[in-house]
Amino acid sequence: MRPVLLLGGRVIDPTQRLDAVADVLLVEGRVAALGRDLSAPDDAERVDCRGKIVAPGFIDLHVHLREPGDEHEETIASGARAAAAGGFTAVVAMPNTRPPIDNPAAVGYVRAAGERAGAARVYPAAAITIGQKGEQLTEFGELRAAGAVIVTDDGRPVMHGGVLRMALEYAQNFDLPVAVHAEDLHLSRGGSMHEGVVSLRLGLMGMPPVAEEAMIARDLLLAEWTGGRLHVQHVSTARGVAMIREAKARGVRVTAEATPHHFTLTDEAVEGYRTAAKVNPPLRTAADREAVREGLRDGTLDAIATDHAPHHYDEKEQAFEDAPFGMVGLETAVGLAVTQLVCTGLLSWSQLVERMSVAPARILQLPGGSLAAGSPADVTVLDPDAEWIVEPDRFLSRSRNTPFAGWRLRGRAWRTIVGGRTVWSAASTP
Ligand code: DOR
Repeated sequence: MRPVLLLGGRVIDPTQRLDAVADVLLVEGRVAALGRDLSAPDDAERVDCRGKIVAPGFIDLHVHLREPGDEHEETIASGARAAAAGGFTAVVAMPNTRPPIDNPAAVGYVRAAGERAGAARVYPAAAITIGQKGEQLTEFGELRAAGAVIVTDDGRPVMHGGVLRMALEYAQNFDLPVAVHAEDLHLSRGGSMHEGVVSLRLGLMGMPPVAEEAMIARDLLLAEWTGGRLHVQHVSTARGVAMIREAKARGVRVTAEATPHHFTLTDEAVEGYRTAAKVNPPLRTAADREAVREGLRDGTLDAIATDHAPHHYDEKEQAFEDAPFGMVGLETAVGLAVTQLVCTGLLSWSQLVERMSVAPARILQLPGGSLAAGSPADVTVLDPDAEWIVEPDRFLSRSRNTPFAGWRLRGRAWRTIVGGRTVWSAASTP
């Protein structure tokens, strides 16, 4: 593999408290050096990064890749390529496929298919319970050995408190975080959007915020009681953010993530019965959105994760109540984060890199999240000034279900490098 010399970019690496113009040299899949006026071997590829931001590779903790079972919506390969195009060097694939990823062979399959794709790295998440039925725990040790980096029944909550307690206890033997989709199904049943004035006006059954908050409260208490590591997925309510903040202050081992759609949109996006905006947890009120933003700012919400949830056009074309929950996110996340969080002054660039690279790597103890010499050569190069319009037809994802079609965004991935190899470049995209 040819060495790569990234020249003159604004290098932002929070792990080294670095935000300065510098060169980065990548050799044999690792960061070999970082500094001014670096020299490189003659055969090195020299990339002019002036005006660009050079950061440790972005990691998305939460994507749905639909393989096995729904390959018409996404495959592991198409998802890994969409991730690379969105500036992600690694993603964590949720286990709610058909069948679910609940055994070591299935974990191995996801890992191998990710390696074959040769785009963003794909780390498998494994189910907490067999068949994601919420009853019997899977074999965490074997799943970990096969390559699972986290256990979660995402897409569904673990309704039985006793089962989640056991999961939080058992997972500690293998140093696995337990990620939760917090939703009390008895409270949310029948709902297809946030319960509030908009759902009332549209005549749709709502999912009250307390359905999410009651489960976050329970899961925080269980994490405290067991000493296990809890990761709360896609936090969408102000009370949820506040409870996580308080729990962290008490020393509970909890981390949390927020999605671009929850920090950007409110339930008003559903007006007109737009199924592209149907997602679970649902888009909530402006006050909730502000709380999610504040949670990202103060670090209560450690990471930005997309919950990339591809669905086929025909399925999303159904009546609102019948359409599936979810929206694609891999190829809009950076633009939304830059436009909504950095351009507004809420986050510094360094904080953005923290939330999209350093924190996800830390939460899952993954290689990456740093450009220190010796780190894997996983690099996200951004064009911070690129203005572009979201055109779903150009997505590399197999699905186009986004509520952001036609939006004008600022900031875009310019080059994505995994293990020293360029897996996506804006220059080679028409
Ligand atoms: O909107 C969602 N879509 N939320 C989930 O929890 C699951 C996901 C999916 O798999 O489509």
